Amino acid sequence: MKIVLDPRPYADAETGALAVLAFEGDAAPAAGGAWLAELMASGEFAGKLLDTALTYNPQGLKAKRLLVVGGGKRASFTPFQMRRAAGTALRSLKPKGVGSIALLLEGEHASPEFAAAAVEGAILGDFEPDAYKTKKEDSKTIEQFAVLGPETLAEAVESGRIVAECQNFTRALVNEPANRMSPMILADRAREMAAECGLECEVLDRDRMRQLGMGALLGVAQGSAEAPALIVVRYRPAGAGEGAPHLGLIGKAVTFDSGGISIKPSDGMEKMKYDMAGGAAVLGVMRALAHLKPALAVTAFVPAVENMPGSRAQRPGDIVTSLSGKTIEVLNTDAEGRLILADAMTYARRQGCTHLVDAATLTGAIVVALGHINVGVFASDEPLAARLMQAAAAAGEKMWRMPLDDEYRELLKTPFADIPNIGNRWGGAITAAAFLQEFAEDTPWAHLDIAGTAWLEEGKPFMAKGPTGVAVRTLVQLARSWS
Ligand code: BES
Ligand code: ZN
Ligand code: ZN
Repeated sequence: MKIVLDPRPYADAETGALAVLAFEGDAAPAAGGAWLAELMASGEFAGKLLDTALTYNPQGLKAKRLLVVGGGKRASFTPFQMRRAAGTALRSLKPKGVGSIALLLEGEHASPEFAAAAVEGAILGDFEPDAYKTKKEDSKTIEQFAVLGPETLAEAVESGRIVAECQNFTRALVNEPANRMSPMILADRAREMAAECGLECEVLDRDRMRQLGMGALLGVAQGSAEAPALIVVRYRPAGAGEGAPHLGLIGKAVTFDSGGISIKPSDGMEKMKYDMAGGAAVLGVMRALAHLKPALAVTAFVPAVENMPGSRAQRPGDIVTSLSGKTIEVLNTDAEGRLILADAMTYARRQGCTHLVDAATLTGAIVVALGHINVGVFASDEPLAARLMQAAAAAGEKMWRMPLDDEYRELLKTPFADIPNIGNRWGGAITAAAFLQEFAEDTPWAHLDIAGTAWLEEGKPFMAKGPTGVAVRTLVQLARSWS
């Protein structure tokens, strides 16, 4: 889908559909003409958030159709709602074969923040998870999405395009089933992406990881016929000196999580193909940074494994030695994400990262705590947590800070090794984070548990069912806002 900015008057827009926003309790926008004025006066369309109405051959416009999208109350309409409104416009028009859409930005909404959000919403709304349908349910496509607004929005439109396309890149990776997305295939995709956008990519294979002593990661991998990989992608800005901050992004990439010997129930197990959403997210972030070029050194570390109960699989009770030297008693082989992240975090610290942020579909417990609405945020460092929460708000991703005080660490105790990989029944998302914190050691670190938010269970008016690409926009914003 081509994205353009068009500063010409809306009446001249030759488009399949002109989309305008209307607000609850406001006068109907002029672009809607008599039709919209009457429609709103009748009460049939009141401007409720994400409500839509469509008419053909609107008077005084060159557009073939006019779509009105409700924005709710004007005062509470933020870029967050704009993203959803634009996505709703796109998804309601796409099946009609309109071909092209022009969204009118007026008044306070003709700003960079709103323009970027509108473009993001349209591109995110355009994503379909139907890569493997040989007969597409809806083969209609939108060729062009135009923002009608002043030239001053050009940079915002371009940056919105890059970020959302990279979020869709992540979603496409997450959408791949495990038979088409092994750790090595993910590594190939990372190499391809890095080559295309001028990033450095290095893949550590099993032998290299053995030499280094990554016993925690390798223990998870040993039950699968698929070889593991630690994917490293580097972005270096021009002129970043010695002593400058260096952000390490670590993404859990379990290409399939059967649970291993502590096997999961079969019901819903098919969804565990999305257990690599954290890894896919940080790869999407690197792709965006390559184009946006912020002034911060960033390296992505993606430990990629398949968690299977093969005959060589690790057993409950096994004790592995992690790269850090700490020994771990694997009490539950389904708590594998923290094991692979532990070694990747130690490696990231040794690679000179001054700050660490990981993204991981880590626990079912975070879904119990926060549902499918908020990402769970854990952090060992207040300034980093503040930066991250600000970035999330600016990027329009809902995140909720969770506690992580020392008392939780006390729940990780075993007489047989330095640390067990699980706590007791309660506070599972927090004890998982407490486990990771051990491996961040004194490096400022934050952790995003995206288990509840990386997959949309039911389609929304603005987004298809399936992978969401959550955390991409926040982590891009974090890197861009660093300096
Ligand atoms: N990949 C799962 C977590 C998960 C659950 C992701 C639901 C997405 C949706 C993780 O590896 C896992 O299995 N965690 C266990 C930990 C437990 C054994 C302590 C869990 O949450 O049940
Ligand atoms: Zn698991
Ligand atoms: Zn998992």
